[in-house]
Amino acid sequence: MSIAKNKRAKNTSINLAPSWENPEVSTLPIEGFRYTSSEFYEKEWNQMWTKVWLLLGRISEMPSKGDYQIEEIGVESIIMVRQEDGSVRAFYNVCQHRGSRLTNNTKGNAEVFRCPYHSWEWSFDGTLLSVQDPEDFPQGNPCEELTLMEVPCEVFAGFIWVNLDPDCKSLKDFLGPLWDEWSGYEIDQWMRVLKISTNVPCNWKVIQDNFCESYHLPTVHPQLADSHEENYAYTQFDTSTEGHNRMIMMGATPSRGLRGETPNLPTPLAERMEYWELDPADFTDRVFDVRLALQEKMRELGGTRGHSHYANLSDAQLTDSHHYNLFPNCSLTFSADGVLLQRMRPDPSDPQKCLFDHWYYTKDTEIADSATNIELTETNDFQEVIQYGEQSMGLIPDQDIAISIMQQLGLRSRGYRGGYLSGQESRIRRFHDVIDSYIEE
Ligand code: FES
Ligand SMILES: [Fe+2]
Repeated sequence: MSIAKNKRAKNTSINLAPSWENPEVSTLPIEGFRYTSSEFYEKEWNQMWTKVWLLLGRISEMPSKGDYQIEEIGVESIIMVRQEDGSVRAFYNVCQHRGSRLTNNTKGNAEVFRCPYHSWEWSFDGTLLSVQDPEDFPQGNPCEELTLMEVPCEVFAGFIWVNLDPDCKSLKDFLGPLWDEWSGYEIDQWMRVLKISTNVPCNWKVIQDNFCESYHLPTVHPQLADSHEENYAYTQFDTSTEGHNRMIMMGATPSRGLRGETPNLPTPLAERMEYWELDPADFTDRVFDVRLALQEKMRELGGTRGHSHYANLSDAQLTDSHHYNLFPNCSLTFSADGVLLQRMRPDPSDPQKCLFDHWYYTKDTEIADSATNIELTETNDFQEVIQYGEQSMGLIPDQDIAISIMQQLGLRSRGYRGGYLSGQESRIRRFHDVIDSYIEE
């Protein structure tokens, strides 16, 4: 296996935060079967999906004893339920009598889950409370012998995380550097203000691959050219030994990449400066000084304007877009006051389909409105999954998903040779290396 570690490092000319470990990356081809083959899909399920921590639920959406949420992952359905002592426990949504799912609800409150088949009653703590004809079981009364099958479950950043491996390492160890970097944001206090879920006709990795690179930004999202320094030379890429990736894009900085000369201040940046008591007119000849000036003002005024968490963020976290690929299936893009969280889950049986969630969490809807261009209100209610194309998810996700579907069609062709990646796309190769390391284990 040849190594491209130095090739990647040379493509990052800027240091916006301390580097991660950046393990060596292979230069193996990323062949089309990885996105189409049922055999590869089975290996991923058995060796990877059932061994990793999965972001599944949200603790603030289940405040009371007996409140539960149910999330599907592949063929599995997991019940997360609030306990008497305030903790959360997670169980397979499977009756231990003869295997019926206990419920088709997605959320609710229940102290008892009554199986629809023979009405065995399971407590929300997993114990079996009652069965029909308990004396008729030669192995002994089921209530004394059986419990629901529990899975490891932890809460971090307000999310409920589940691991289908009973011998898994802790969530903190799995998250590696993400744990500390996310701790400053007070994510647990943010509410979901945008929620769209759609079935997409492509493998789940096609979308995560797309989120592992910014090479497509000028071509797939040309409308972003004004708001970020999208040239890779002004972006920091990192990969962690745990399998996660990070990309920090210099924010509050108009793009140099497409213009070659000093650009004007884009309107959203000028508005943001005014909010933080900076006069854009003072910066017309020195637009690249805006970023540091903004950081200073946010530090100075943040505490008095309801952003006390700024004290826990780095300077780069105040102004720069911090984008993470959480292994295996989430992409999170943080600004100082909110996060766009996108999650991909495999279809239960078809490797060429997945379920895509597009969410935004924040405490400050005014800032989120300008980040998403959508008017936002708190939305914790269940929303039905739509079929791709039935309604818009917003311009940027529509663009990403449309190109992912195009790519899936090409990836299944015999004429695809397995890719030819640029240095700034090495996080894609790293993502596939990590999947392979789970499969090979
Ligand atoms: S399968 Fe659940 S009670 Fe029979
Ligand atoms: Fe994109």
